[in-house]
Amino acid sequence: MLDNIGELVTNDPSAGRGASAQAGLGVRRDAALLIESGRIVWVGAAAGAPAADEQVDCGGAAVMPGFVDSHSHVIFAGDRAPEFAARMAGEPYSAGGIGTTVAATRVASDAQLRANASRLTTELIRSGSTTFEIKSGYGLTVVDEARCLRIAAEFTDEVTFLGAHVVPPEFVDDRRGYLDLLTGPMLDACAAQARWVDVFCDRGAFDADESAQVLAAGVARGLVPRVHANQLQRGPGVKLAVAFGAASADHCTHLSAEDITALADSARSSTPTVATLLPGAEFSTRSPYPDARRLLEAGAVVALATDCNPGTSYTTSMPFCIALAVREMGMSVPEAVRAATIGGASALRRTDVGRIVVGGSADILVLAAPSYVHLAYRPGVDLIRQVWRRGRCVRGGRTDRTLGWSR
Ligand code: NIG
Ligand code: FE
Repeated sequence: MLDNIGELVTNDPSAGRGASAQAGLGVRRDAALLIESGRIVWVGAAAGAPAADEQVDCGGAAVMPGFVDSHSHVIFAGDRAPEFAARMAGEPYSAGGIGTTVAATRVASDAQLRANASRLTTELIRSGSTTFEIKSGYGLTVVDEARCLRIAAEFTDEVTFLGAHVVPPEFVDDRRGYLDLLTGPMLDACAAQARWVDVFCDRGAFDADESAQVLAAGVARGLVPRVHANQLQRGPGVKLAVAFGAASADHCTHLSAEDITALADSARSSTPTVATLLPGAEFSTRSPYPDARRLLEAGAVVALATDCNPGTSYTTSMPFCIALAVREMGMSVPEAVRAATIGGASALRRTDVGRIVVGGSADILVLAAPSYVHLAYRPGVDLIRQVWRRGRCVRGGRTDRTLGWSR
């Protein structure tokens, strides 16, 4: 039993009142919740809480669903700190930088890739992400993509095949040859280990025709599409994602009016194409941020994710992304918190995570703060006091029964 919760964000609109309910956060005051066998079995007023075997006194702190990070690239080797430093000194970002990580990943052992992924997923979990997606895309040979996916699957069920990240150097003069490999033997080796297929549809990566071939080949093998779309410039990525019924169009930095309409129209379906915004990438490439306000006002479903990768966004922190979204992208705090939780769940087509409801997975954060607002109000401060994942306390110590937020 998590008891004495000062402010409980449920993402269940029927649960709250006033402004927070309108934003869909479903905030309850003075609440409690009960976990059993990894699931939430009761949510309600602290005063009416049933008896439980074990009690955690949250001391009036804010409690919320774990973050759902629907976009990461944490299977890789090496480091691109010099590239980052050069960018901050005025160099532009280009998709070509991916090649540096591909070269390092190919020569890394499985043990090295696993150790790096373990370090980064530990960071993800400690910063409150209880569900996260992981992509391949730094192997770009049959053997390397397959082993990257195999290692990714050791850390998450949400595994994405991104063989179409860039055309690798050995195929620069034979794009057709790489597409044949990608849509043939590489997919044959990879499809069984992935749930999703992704393509980087942008300048320096894949064009509309090539991207459509990749997505169609993935769909034919039972994978569900998602697309890296409109990160570097306006282009066909978003429209392609919607046309393929993709679960998400990710980045959405440079959108036309038609792109926004297409995303908003798809939001009326039960399986929308979610606009997944990755502000860590704009931060780390010193680029203009996407206009979240336009997307939200048009009615699109919006998610926030880290895009954790060594090139454009080497952060595992969803709270950092929330703070950026609020400060730089025109999102209100409730909108950003929803996008980082239930928005990410929509982008992964999951209904069991991203909410605190009876029957849902017990993925819960106890904050070292009286309100979720502090996630944006206190940027750069680690406010994750306790993390519960599938009903297990994975950060914060179960013995620390009294968490104590003095009001
Ligand atoms: O999502 N846009 C494509 N892929 C990554 C960047 C990868 C890299 O630079 O290594 C992204 O930003
Ligand atoms: Fe990405």
